[in-house]
Amino acid sequence: MTVDLLLGLQWGDEGKGKIVDVLTSKYDIIARFQGGPNAGHTLEFDGIKHVLRTVPSGIFHKNSVNIIGNGVVMDPVVFQKELEGLEKFNIDVKTRLLISRKAHLILPTHRLLDAASEASKGKAKIGSTLKGIGPTYMDKTGRNGIRIGDIEMDDFKERYRALADKHQAMIDFYDVDLQYDLKELEEEFFTAVEVLKELTFIDSEEYLNKAMREGKSILAEGAQGSLLDIDFGTYPFVTSSNTTAAGACTGLGIAPNRVKEVFGIFKAYTTRVGSGPFPTELFDEVGATMAKVGNEFGSVTGRARRCGWLDLVALKYAVQVNGVTQLYMMKGDVLSGFETLKVCTAYEYKGERINHLPYNIEPENVTPVYVEKKGWEADLTGMSTYEELPQELKKYIEFIEKELEVPIKVISVGPDRKQTIIK
Ligand code: GDP
Ligand code: IMO
Ligand code: MG
Repeated sequence: MTVDLLLGLQWGDEGKGKIVDVLTSKYDIIARFQGGPNAGHTLEFDGIKHVLRTVPSGIFHKNSVNIIGNGVVMDPVVFQKELEGLEKFNIDVKTRLLISRKAHLILPTHRLLDAASEASKGKAKIGSTLKGIGPTYMDKTGRNGIRIGDIEMDDFKERYRALADKHQAMIDFYDVDLQYDLKELEEEFFTAVEVLKELTFIDSEEYLNKAMREGKSILAEGAQGSLLDIDFGTYPFVTSSNTTAAGACTGLGIAPNRVKEVFGIFKAYTTRVGSGPFPTELFDEVGATMAKVGNEFGSVTGRARRCGWLDLVALKYAVQVNGVTQLYMMKGDVLSGFETLKVCTAYEYKGERINHLPYNIEPENVTPVYVEKKGWEADLTGMSTYEELPQELKKYIEFIEKELEVPIKVISVGPDRKQTIIK
C-alpha cells in the first residue's frame, strides 16, 4: 500500500501533468484532490500535446483508475469538452474515470459571479481564470453548494434554480457591465450534466480506503501550486483551495499517516500568471527570453506568464509546508545559453536580511538577494542520463539540493514524456 503526493511548489504550471503521466505506470490509482478547470495540465507524447483540466493526468494509461476527488470542483460544460477531446484519441474515459459524489458543481452563475467580482475589483483584481472557482468554493464553505451526488436526486433542478436565482441577485448587486444570456448558458449546462451522468459516481473516500486495504498504490495529483494555496499562498492573490499536502488528505479522505512520499515539483526558474507579488520577477530581456524559450503562455487562458529567477526562499517555504521528500526539477533546458544564472537565497526586508516569506511581500518591502551561478551552453533536450548533463547544471542542482536539504530525483529537459532524466 502506498499513497504518494505530487504537487507544485511555485505558482502553478510547474509541469505536474507531464510528471503524473510519467509516473502513472507505477500506480494503480491516480486521484486529483483539489482545484477545478482553472488547471491546465499538459502532457506530450508521440508528437501530440494534450491539456487536461479536471481529468487526472493518468488517463492515458489503460491499467490505472483515475479519480476526481471530493476536494475538486467540476464544471460539466468544461468536462464535456474535455471528454470530447479525449474520445478523439480513442480514450475510453467512461471506463477509466470515477467521480466523487462529494465534489462540488460549478454552475454557470458561479462563472458569472467570478467575472463580476473581478470586474468590481478593478486594478486590484486577482487575475482569476474566471472559471468560477472562488464562488464555487465559497458556496461549499458557506454550506450552500450543489454536489455531484445531488445530480442523482429528484430535486436537483429545484436546488439548481434556488441557488442560481440567489446568484443572479448577487450578480446584480455587483452592478458591473456583464453581457450574458443565462438561458443559453443553462441549456449548455443541463446538456453537459446529462453527459456527466453517463460517468460513474462513487463515494471516493470509501473506494480509496478499500483500495489501500487491498494493497493498491495511489498517486494524488495536485493542481495549482503551493504559493497559490488559500492559507499559505500570497493571499489574496491565490486560488480558493488548499493546494498543499494537507489538501490531499481532505480532498480525498486519506489519513495523513497513510502518505509516504511527497514529490515537490518546481521549474528551474519561476513563473506566475495573474496578479500578485513575485519578488524575483524580471522585466528585462532575460525574462523575455525565459518566456519565449519556455513557451510561457497559460494553458487555460493563453495569458503570458510572468518570468523570473529561481526563488529559494519561497521554495524552502513550500518544501516545509508540504513535507517534500523528493524534488523534481522541470524545464532545465530553458536555462541553456545564459552566461550567468541568478538564484535568490534571501530577501532584504525593511532593512533586514531574512530567509522566510514575510507576511507582506509586496515589491516595495522585499528586495531579493542573489547568488550567481555559471550557466551552460549545451542543449539538454536530447540528453537522457544524468552523466551527460553539463557540469554547471550539476552544480546548479547540487546547490539547490544543499539549500533545500531535499534530493532532486528527476530532471526534466523537455515537454515530452521521454525527456525525463532520473538521477
Ligand atoms: P502543470 O499545470 O503543472 O501541469 O503545467 P502546465 O502544463 O500548465 O505547464 C507546463 C508547460 O511546460 C507545458 O507546456 C509543458 O508541456 C511544458 N514542459 C513540462 N516540462 C518541461 C520541460 O522540462 N522543458 C520544457 N521546455 N517544457 C516543459
Ligand atoms: P495549474 O494546475 C497557474 C492562478 C490564476 C490567478 C489565481 C486565482 O495548471 O498549475 P482562480 O481561477 O483559481 O480563481 O485564479 O490563481 N491560477 C493558476 N496559475 N496554474 C494554475 O493551475 C492556476 N490556477 C489558478 O492565474 O492568479
Ligand atoms: Mg497548468
